[in-house]
Amino acid sequence: MKPKYILAALLWVGLITFGVWRLMGSVGIHANQERQALAAEKDSKAAVNDFMGSLKAKLQASMQEGGPTHALNVCGDVAQEMTQNYANEKGWYFRRTALRLRNPLNAPDIYEKAWMERTAFGSTAEVPIATYTKAVTNEEYVREYHLMEPIYVAEACLVCHGSSQQIPDEVEDLLAEKYPSDSAIDFKVGEFRGILSIRIPLPDEELGE
Ligand code: HEC
Repeated sequence: MKPKYILAALLWVGLITFGVWRLMGSVGIHANQERQALAAEKDSKAAVNDFMGSLKAKLQASMQEGGPTHALNVCGDVAQEMTQNYANEKGWYFRRTALRLRNPLNAPDIYEKAWMERTAFGSTAEVPIATYTKAVTNEEYVREYHLMEPIYVAEACLVCHGSSQQIPDEVEDLLAEKYPSDSAIDFKVGEFRGILSIRIPLPDEELGE
């Protein structure tokens, strides 16, 4: 065989090997990304259950101890603290947000607002919307796992989020004082209240790992 054919053949073999190597690499990355997203899904769902469960338990305990005025700071300060702890301890984005807000600091970002307005709004505890979950690449080119869990109004929420008749006067006074722009009232049992929104960073994988 002429040397130039040998050279061409070697070149082809090289090219094909490189192609296969890249392909294997990307298959590997894909599998890794799948694994990461699954782990994030498990972790975030466990966190949702944990958060909702302990918030309810804390609300109940506080209500029994000193009534709704006493419990006011549970759905407020304690909830803020709990979400902040998740953020600090795990490095996640973790918060509660809603369309009708009590505290303007809980305002949604454009993604949360869009999902609530287009999809979750109108769903009820009887016909709930499925949890939103997705692995995405954000504006800073960082892959992250998103979860949005709908929250529905329960009977126990009405003393602070129900109608004027359902909210005791002393609670109304406190709310007016602390939250002058409160629009998180007049909810009914089963109505869509807001979401728990979580974002977990998914570390980058090197090619071929
Ligand atoms: C004892 C009064 C009280 C009860 C009971 C209560 N909340 Fe709240 N809720 C508040 C206060 C106060 C805030 C403002 C929190 C803050 O400052 O971040 C709030 C805020 C929220 C928010 C965050 C969005 C916003 O509007 O700022 C959600 C979601 C929420 N409550 C859902 C619920 C649900 C669901 C229940 C029933 C399981 C419930 N709350 C029961 C007082 C209460």
